[in-house]
Amino acid sequence: MQTLNVDLGDRSYPIFIGTDLFRTENLAPYIKGNQILIVSNEIVAPLYLDQLKAILPSVQVDEVILPDGEQYKTLEQLNTVYDRLLQCRHNRTTTLIALGGGVIGDMTGFAAACYQRGVNFIQIPTTLLSQVDSSVGGKTGVNHPLGKNMIGAFHQPQVVLASVDVLATLPGRELSAGLAEVIKYGLVYDLGFLDWLEENMADLVGRDAALLSYAIQRSCELKAEVVAQDEKESGVRALLNLGHTFGHAIESCQGYGNWLHGEAVAVGTVMAADLSQRLGWISSEDVQRVVRIMKAANLPVEAPEGMTPEDFMTLMAVDKKVIDGQLRLILLHALGDAVVTDQFDPLALQQTLTHFTS
Ligand code: NAD
Ligand code: GLY
Repeated sequence: MQTLNVDLGDRSYPIFIGTDLFRTENLAPYIKGNQILIVSNEIVAPLYLDQLKAILPSVQVDEVILPDGEQYKTLEQLNTVYDRLLQCRHNRTTTLIALGGGVIGDMTGFAAACYQRGVNFIQIPTTLLSQVDSSVGGKTGVNHPLGKNMIGAFHQPQVVLASVDVLATLPGRELSAGLAEVIKYGLVYDLGFLDWLEENMADLVGRDAALLSYAIQRSCELKAEVVAQDEKESGVRALLNLGHTFGHAIESCQGYGNWLHGEAVAVGTVMAADLSQRLGWISSEDVQRVVRIMKAANLPVEAPEGMTPEDFMTLMAVDKKVIDGQLRLILLHALGDAVVTDQFDPLALQQTLTHFTS
């Protein structure tokens, strides 16, 4: 088991990564009160809920099982979590445990941020995407029909348990979606890691446990470092959104749940690379490298049929990185070196949008 630390002063917390992690000693020290609410969904609960319940300390344990899918990441569904907490009389020392992918993690974290003005929560991410990204760093929230993740809060967990074992049951398409975020770390921060990913992509897709463990560890190291520097995203943390502005537009336009978040991010990353090349920052060989690694991870590299440049512009205008009406994008100065900028030629952006939608 690898242990990393997210260094946030008195709100610091460990991330445990590896196999055979479902053990009482990995959870009990992080449960302070005598009540637990497990939040999971109808797909993950039948697979792992009993295993989790078996290792919990002997306190009051309640559960709420939500419907599966991004389309249920809503305020309405969140209310069912509050209903359960109140029906079961949970007090301010309760601990919420998120058992699921990023949807469950984001919703549980937001429920914990708001319930009685903030209670503890634990992340047990069960998708690759949630293990390398969403469970770490305290971004929580739900979608609004007019924009993704628009209602939310920063609220850090007590501990993150990233078990490689649970990835055995993850559908291949979901594994690939997680790999999009792993590739993101290489492109944004670490060219050496990108090289390693290129060399090992076939075995990662083949679910080699040791390689997956290393990919999760390196991704979480990079994320923990960034979150420690800029918890509330006033600066460098924005770089973690490479590909996300284009990607969120794709997800919103297609209807939440039709395109996976990681798939949309993969296309968005290729679009960001294309724009970076049009601005003269990276070479067309660099863009091809991005395309090749996404394809090797079985990810899409083209925007959905039917989307227009206007769709992108309208949907990108509600991105959280827009400040005072000015669109800011994460682009690549080089592979392994990203930048957040509003200094790009709007014509080049139009050319990228036209290229990907024609
Ligand atoms: P998800 O939570 O929808 O999970 C994907 C699918 O896999 C679901 O059908 C789920 O039920 C199923 N599943 C989960 N674990 C499984 C397992 N072990 N075996 C079999 N099936 C399993 O999607 P996701 O990709 O994990 O997360 C996407 C969400 O994360 C989006 O809502 C996105 O906005 C959010 N996100 C948040 C952050 C953040 O910093 N908070 C970062 C990135 C993404
Ligand atoms: N997924 C981007 C972030 O956590 O900042």
